[in-house]
Amino acid sequence: FFHTDIPEGLRRLPGPKPLPIIGNVLEMGSKPYLSLTAMSKRYGHIFQIQIGMRPVVVLSGSETVRQALVKQGEEFAGRPDLYTFRFINDGKSLAFSTDQAGIWRARRKLAYSALRSFSNLDGTTPEYSCMLEEHICKEGEYLIQQLNNVMKADGSFDPFRHIVVSVANVICGMCFGRRYDHDDQELLSLVYLSDEFGQVAGSGNPADFIPFLQILPSPTMKKFMDINDRFNNFVKKIVSEHYASYDKDNIRDITDSLIDHCEDRKLDENSNLHVSDEKIVGIVNDLFGAGFDTISTGLSWSVMYLEKVGLDRTPVLSDKLNLPLLEAFILELFRHSSFLPFTIPHCTTKDTSLNGYFIPKDTCVFINQWQINHDPELWKEPSSFIPERFLDTDGTEVNKVEGEKVMIFGLGKRRCIGEVIARNEVYLFLAILVQKLRFHAMPGEPLDMTPEYGLTMKHKRCHLRATMRVRNEQIT
Ligand code: HEM
Repeated sequence: FFHTDIPEGLRRLPGPKPLPIIGNVLEMGSKPYLSLTAMSKRYGHIFQIQIGMRPVVVLSGSETVRQALVKQGEEFAGRPDLYTFRFINDGKSLAFSTDQAGIWRARRKLAYSALRSFSNLDGTTPEYSCMLEEHICKEGEYLIQQLNNVMKADGSFDPFRHIVVSVANVICGMCFGRRYDHDDQELLSLVYLSDEFGQVAGSGNPADFIPFLQILPSPTMKKFMDINDRFNNFVKKIVSEHYASYDKDNIRDITDSLIDHCEDRKLDENSNLHVSDEKIVGIVNDLFGAGFDTISTGLSWSVMYLEKVGLDRTPVLSDKLNLPLLEAFILELFRHSSFLPFTIPHCTTKDTSLNGYFIPKDTCVFINQWQINHDPELWKEPSSFIPERFLDTDGTEVNKVEGEKVMIFGLGKRRCIGEVIARNEVYLFLAILVQKLRFHAMPGEPLDMTPEYGLTMKHKRCHLRATMRVRNEQIT
């Protein structure tokens, strides 16, 4: 890469000088979203680093990222072949694998339409507008009950521990047609211990780029493999139960609908693209994984910010007026925490150029969402938490244009397919929580808001207290 010929008229990418063997790993440090943001100030919105022996292009700045992921979407839509990605979903993940474009596109379309149809399905009673709403409202009620019980028994609770089960139950309901008890050890062992997954799968893990690190024993890597194994076995068991009880005339959930797709396709002699049954039904693995970790991380952060900054600085008259503030709070939570600091790494699908710089085929590309969300060119006082920045002047409506500047779901061809579900789910769970509970830090234990770097950044595990809101009390 460094020695490749640059086609005439194009420039070579700027960037820090790499050391032999390790490249720029030391400059990247343990918080790459901060170090790569600092480098973007020095080298511009497109620059190149080297991790180990491998060059990586880092994109920042809203315009540059939009140019790459939207206007030149096809050229930047690949995924790099990274060591750790091979363990996710047995190397057959929709989100992380190096599937060729046609296969990835077909799987993504299927995943998207299964998600959409099972969240939009009618609820079991007219009280609910759709299945997604029904699952969230019911799980929200259980969550409040659960937190109340734990408060009574222990006097405090770990927010992530309980939120993650409720959120997992929503996606389990849609994918597998079942929910789990808050004390179910099998589910807890999957969802509560998912930190190492994010730590290993985060952008810039040196083990992905420096081969000798892959053979050194690493406790985090071992846990990562263990989580993937447990996860895959959990899903495999449910999938085989679904195969055993599959009934074409009674499609119960997303797993059934994917099995049904495989069966239908066998009748379709014209289909020329062959995607294996395993890769089709394996889509539930991605949906389940992406569907609980991201949303529970976001909600758990919400509770931390609620305690720390409150949601009650603007005097409001009624619940109705309060809802835009809740929406603005969530946008500010997404922006300020940027708990998905980078998208999943991308990869160029052919030789290309961006803003006059040459980028060869198969180059790994990091998209720094954190930088866009903290860019002083885009935001006034980017490091302050100010939900009102998203409200119009009289505070009654969310400013959509401002809201769209926040980048946490990626953009373009690889944009998150769970975005609508995620936004609705965070909103509804949070509305239920703030309507019923007030959160307080434990006396003498200030909350630590420093994120721990990973694919999804988590806050440190902590304990909070909750008190029931008095009925009809306004949030003022
Ligand atoms: C991909 C964010 C919830 C399914 C992504 C990406 C981001 C993201 C940043 C990578 C985009 C890229 O590589 O350019 C989030 C956030 C969520 C969330 C912040 C919650 C607040 C969900 C949910 C689901 C989901 C609920 C499904 C139930 C997926 C899938 C992909 C993806 C399947 C891979 C798409 C592909 O590679 O083509 N998400 N996500 N996500 N997300 Fe989400």
